[in-house]
Amino acid sequence: MLKDAPIGVFDSGVGGLTVVREIIRQLPSENVVYFGDTARVPYGSKSQKTIIEYTRQIIHFLKTKKVKAIVIACNTASAYALDTVAPEVDVPIIGVVRPGAYTAAHTTVSGNIGVIGTEGTINSGIYSSVLHEYNPGFRVIGKACPLFVPLVEEGLLNDSVTDEIASRYLQVLKDAHVDTLILGCTHYPLIRSTIRRIMGEGVNLVNPAYETAISLRCLLKEQGIYRESGEPEYHFFVSDGTDKFSAFANSILPVELVETRLVPIDEY
Ligand code: DGL
Repeated sequence: MLKDAPIGVFDSGVGGLTVVREIIRQLPSENVVYFGDTARVPYGSKSQKTIIEYTRQIIHFLKTKKVKAIVIACNTASAYALDTVAPEVDVPIIGVVRPGAYTAAHTTVSGNIGVIGTEGTINSGIYSSVLHEYNPGFRVIGKACPLFVPLVEEGLLNDSVTDEIASRYLQVLKDAHVDTLILGCTHYPLIRSTIRRIMGEGVNLVNPAYETAISLRCLLKEQGIYRESGEPEYHFFVSDGTDKFSAFANSILPVELVETRLVPIDEY
């Protein structure tokens, strides 16, 4: 049955696990195949051409797992590759940018919206373009925060170094009086409490991972392929460093990770 086929989810590395975490919470019977491109991370500083090539390879790999839908759980790949690859794929495919932008557009009161992400995501201007589809009057302030990804990957989630760097990065958004801030990189929800402390309680923090899981459920229901019941299975694949990945996944996922397997992604 197509309903029992897994959802393919991928990211440049561990960050997309924040999206898997939301899928597990909100679509608890869905089977998931996850691929983390740990050998080639980070995507945030690479060219669009490279990201499109990587994305095509990963989709090819996920198709061998007979996925019924694909989630690009990476802001940079959603920004650079989704529109190009979507017409090439014969299953529904979504990214994380539109769901995040949708929520921000419907949450802001002042129209001052901040976006933080990798250099690639911010330079692509994608959040700004999508937000302006909702309201051309929005004032969108983007800020690349390239040090956040390595800080999260080093496990410095609650650390004075992270506080110091976050204070510097976020000052421009505080000065702009944003009332809504999009966490436009998959790693950032993991330092949400630091961002919250610096931005203050009055700013709405939008986690696109949460909204993406909602969009995915709507999409699967619309297509009649939503798996409503049954025990789910989760399979994890990476292009390098299985043990490090498993340790990270075990620390943030609400399920016991069975095994992470290695994939020679260049061969796809
Ligand atoms: N997963 C990436 C994103 O959401 C961040 C890490 C990277 O630069 O590859 O943009």
